[in-house]
Amino acid sequence: MTIAATLLQARQIEARVVQVAKEIDKHYAGDEFVMLVVLKGAMIFAADLMRQIRTPFLLEFAQSRTYGDSTTPQNTPAVIGPDLEKISDKHILLVDDILDTGATFLALKEWLLEREALSVRGCFLLDKPWHRDASIKPDFFGFQVPDVFVVGYGLDHAEKYRNLPYIAQLANPAP
Ligand code: IMP
Ligand code: MG
Repeated sequence: MTIAATLLQARQIEARVVQVAKEIDKHYAGDEFVMLVVLKGAMIFAADLMRQIRTPFLLEFAQSRTYGDSTTPQNTPAVIGPDLEKISDKHILLVDDILDTGATFLALKEWLLEREALSVRGCFLLDKPWHRDASIKPDFFGFQVPDVFVVGYGLDHAEKYRNLPYIAQLANPAP
């Protein structure tokens, strides 16, 4: 599979990340939170975003897998996350690459609330709102993208293309 078209240039992403960080600072108004980065896709977005945030935060990681090597979700997300003491009584900002069906966000949110998180907000570089219930919305997001499979800036297809500094569309998505 090859890259069909560039959807978002590196410079556009860089400028928008600064604005999203400002929105996050405004929301937390100086109150400490836990930034929970969803591996692996959010790694590059989170690394850029966190260097623009001025509010104090603690950094944690979670992993959730749904896609395998396909371009359509395979099953309900399985969550691996930090220990209870890192979550309970904390405000959690979940950072992920893309909000698509919302299954990952919902599974992580439920997982965090079961562990007594004070609040859970979701921040996504990309919003793909075409295949989900209208009630599932990102609290913060960078860009809305069309209903296509995208790669780059952390997002992969079968673990490839994560290193592209821009967001691109794949030429022939697998069925
Ligand atoms: P959701 O659970 O359907 O919202 O999807 C969330 C996860 O699916 C994201 O964190 C990505 O890892 C993956 N994903 C969804 N759409 C795409 C895409 O267009 N390209 C690459 N990964 C995607
Ligand atoms: Mg992901």
